Amino acid sequence: MGADPDRVLIFDTTLRDGEQSPGCTMTLPEKLRVARALADLGVDVIEAGFPAASRGDFEAVNAVAAQVGGATICGLARCNFEDIEQCARALQPAARRRIHLFLATSAIHRQYKLNMAQEEILRLATASISRARELCDDVEFSPEDASRTELEFLAQVVETAVAAGATTVNIPDTVGYTVPDEFAELFRYLRKNVRGIERVRLSVHCHDDLGMAVANSLTAVVAGARQVECTVNGIGERAGNCSLEEVVMALKTRAAFFNVATGINTSRLYPTSRLVSSITGMPIPRNKAVVGENAFAHESGIHQHGMLKHHSTYEIMNPEEVGLARSHLVLGKHSGRHAFRQRVQALGFELDEAELSRVFEDFKALADRKKELFDGDIEALVLRDAGSASGPWTLEELVTEARNADAQASVRLRHRDGRVLTQDARGDGPVDAAFKAIEAATGIAVVLSKFEVHAVSEGEDAQGEARVYAEHNARTYRGASVSTNIVESGTRAFLEVINRIELARGGARQRDERAAPAAAAAAAV
Ligand code: KIV
Ligand code: ZN
Repeated sequence: MGADPDRVLIFDTTLRDGEQSPGCTMTLPEKLRVARALADLGVDVIEAGFPAASRGDFEAVNAVAAQVGGATICGLARCNFEDIEQCARALQPAARRRIHLFLATSAIHRQYKLNMAQEEILRLATASISRARELCDDVEFSPEDASRTELEFLAQVVETAVAAGATTVNIPDTVGYTVPDEFAELFRYLRKNVRGIERVRLSVHCHDDLGMAVANSLTAVVAGARQVECTVNGIGERAGNCSLEEVVMALKTRAAFFNVATGINTSRLYPTSRLVSSITGMPIPRNKAVVGENAFAHESGIHQHGMLKHHSTYEIMNPEEVGLARSHLVLGKHSGRHAFRQRVQALGFELDEAELSRVFEDFKALADRKKELFDGDIEALVLRDAGSASGPWTLEELVTEARNADAQASVRLRHRDGRVLTQDARGDGPVDAAFKAIEAATGIAVVLSKFEVHAVSEGEDAQGEARVYAEHNARTYRGASVSTNIVESGTRAFLEVINRIELARGGARQRDERAAPAAAAAAAV
């Protein structure tokens, strides 16, 4: 490595761009939990949401700003005064805050989306950045669809943003269209042709439509970007965003090549990845780089032989380095709280005493039903708490009876308002019957798009994790639950879908209330 490595900031947008992926909507407590995990991970900036989008988003950004320390808290805003002022209000409690403005600049977006000429874009960018700077010292500007914007015009936009007072200029590959050589050239062009560019931090924001988000982000770093925008597990719009764990481990593993450093505590990568997967319901592919189940597994004889001689033969990273502390230690019903706590900590989870007590109780109950508990079981117990939307309905009783495919289910549900409903239904198997009973009881009908079950650990009595995805009013909702009884885990997962619909209905009502004043103020600039 040459001189002292430059610092590359990690800007996490799991709570904003990540949450925009279908079915990934998070509740406020879930967002807070993810934000705390991101702060522990050591990210520099947390983009907590888009305050003008809905009251729910405003409250989430506001709550993260008030309750999560250690990172700069950022909110997204369109280039209009109402958005900007709302964003500043939401961020107000944060010790360090940033307003992130975006405005599309490519010819396609100018013509079809904005119907604006180049000069109007430049004027709007100047007015918006100036207003944001009056409210916040730290202002980021993103020319949306930058990678498909004419180079000369992009340089003009960036120069305008710098002159207006932006402190970070982010270059998004909004539709995942660019390729590494071209993108590096774009960064070099801007650094050469934009007056004052040395006064701002250059940032990169890539989407993965052609599978190059990480490669494009890394090439931008080589070409001078000193902030990378990314999400945990690469979740995000369409094919997703640049994956945080991949870009961070590439910069770390190939430090001699990149000669830059991040502030990420890489041993938190694996638990953070599991937490986000559990909360968003987005499974991690087994072969996912860095955090996939197979990322450190060696199956072939030649590889195993090499590994036994020396791990460096086939491993370029250490599993411990990314927080993968797997062991074959088995816990059971005689294991005490101390051993349980140690295992939870070794798996990378930080629980306070109340959380530990709750999960330990679940552990004891499970240990009565299941002889041996493996890491997968413990992880599922801890994450079950994190991933389930605490909506209005709880399942008090489930009874099923099946003769071949013909089945009957009876459910007893309790609503937070005190109502208790009992409902029977017949179905094609006990799971189908239970789903129908819940639909009939709650009056919420959905179209089931996916129902899957997989074992979270080993053994014949392994727990089954059920995941349910369903459509309601053109939106995808999800639910997940774990139990040794898969009819029960499926039913609980289905009830979580219903709870998320109820929660979203509450959010939509709030959005409608806000729509009128927001629309009137949108013309303010
Ligand atoms: O992809 C994109 O262009 C964005 C901007 C808001 C930065 O997410
Ligand atoms: Zn994006």
